[in-house]
Amino acid sequence: MNMSLIETIKQAHARRFGVPPAVVAYAPGRVEILGNHTDYNEGFVLSAAIDLGIGLALSPAGGASCTVQALDIPEEICFDLPVTSPAKQPLWVNYVRGVVNKLGARGRIEPGFQATFAGDIPMGAGLSSSAALEIAAALALARLYNISAAPLELAKIGQAAENDFTGAHCGLLDQISSLFGQDHALVFSDFRTLAVETVPLTAEICFLLADTCVKHSLVASAYNERRAQCERSSAFFASVLDHPVTALRDVSMDEWNAFAARLDPITARRAAHVIGENARVLEANRLLRLGDVQAFGELMFQSHHSSRTNFENSCPELDFIVAQARMLPQVLGARLSGGGFGGSVVLMLHPRDADQVGQTLASAYVRKFGHTCTTRVIRPVAGARVL
Ligand code: GLA
Repeated sequence: MNMSLIETIKQAHARRFGVPPAVVAYAPGRVEILGNHTDYNEGFVLSAAIDLGIGLALSPAGGASCTVQALDIPEEICFDLPVTSPAKQPLWVNYVRGVVNKLGARGRIEPGFQATFAGDIPMGAGLSSSAALEIAAALALARLYNISAAPLELAKIGQAAENDFTGAHCGLLDQISSLFGQDHALVFSDFRTLAVETVPLTAEICFLLADTCVKHSLVASAYNERRAQCERSSAFFASVLDHPVTALRDVSMDEWNAFAARLDPITARRAAHVIGENARVLEANRLLRLGDVQAFGELMFQSHHSSRTNFENSCPELDFIVAQARMLPQVLGARLSGGGFGGSVVLMLHPRDADQVGQTLASAYVRKFGHTCTTRVIRPVAGARVL
């Protein structure tokens, strides 16, 4: 955790509100290592909380009014309790308002509060700055108002806030990763049972992130459209298979091969992506525990290929980076990470190769697109907490 970020937040809070914060919480962003758009299909994901995040400081205020200052934007917004609906703008305040609304259903959020938050997660890089804000707010508010909620419940509160207050029909991946991260380990999540396991990493690998600097927005209808297509295909398989199907998690590749021709080609491809991803994550989880990082990396490349051709949630910039990475023998695997349609590529490689590979990719990228991509090593870290 970036301690100078936390100091900056505390000082700015005291300067603006005249009191030191009563509670400070920190929540990391996340990187999706394998398992793309599988979470809301009740499937599997390997992910990590990362060493970039959001800190949020809180102190109580009298009456019904709440003030939230966003240091990075910079902007300050006031609203009154109770919060029953999203604000028209700005978008960021709805992550906080949504959490106040959902957490408020479990305990009394009263009187009002003053909040200050800031972070070091690049916006739009596909690293879930939104979930980090939701989780930092949920943790801090739960502590301030003495509302008890287990980590999984906090994750669901964050997701519900995002679903209902921003219109993004996201799954639970981002919130679970932010809460359950562990140092130098991946989080293996089963989104049906919501069981979460920690998979330790060897010192032989690290993750490099290449941010295309192409901004995407989860609210963009493309994400919700993909989710609707997955639900349509799941309903189709439920109608033709002789076993229960409540999500694409229940459909095998053999079943897809037998019946996909009866679906429209786009919906069929969306289903192929999710079914293939689930199988890849299970296999990758096994390989990782065996220490076979080479084969694991190959699955990352396959995942990207499927995103590009089946799920169509990639873009030329992401494809270019993955194609360049494919040609570099030092890179074990590379794929788009997160919702897609922009954002970042995550690469797996030996730590000694990270700098050189980052520079090679960045210069190829600027030659091709005329603008830079940023590369950085990201470290899997411990999950969100009250400080
Ligand atoms: C976004 C969503 C997640 C998940 C990923 C894709 O990050 O918020 O719930 O669906 O995209 O795997």
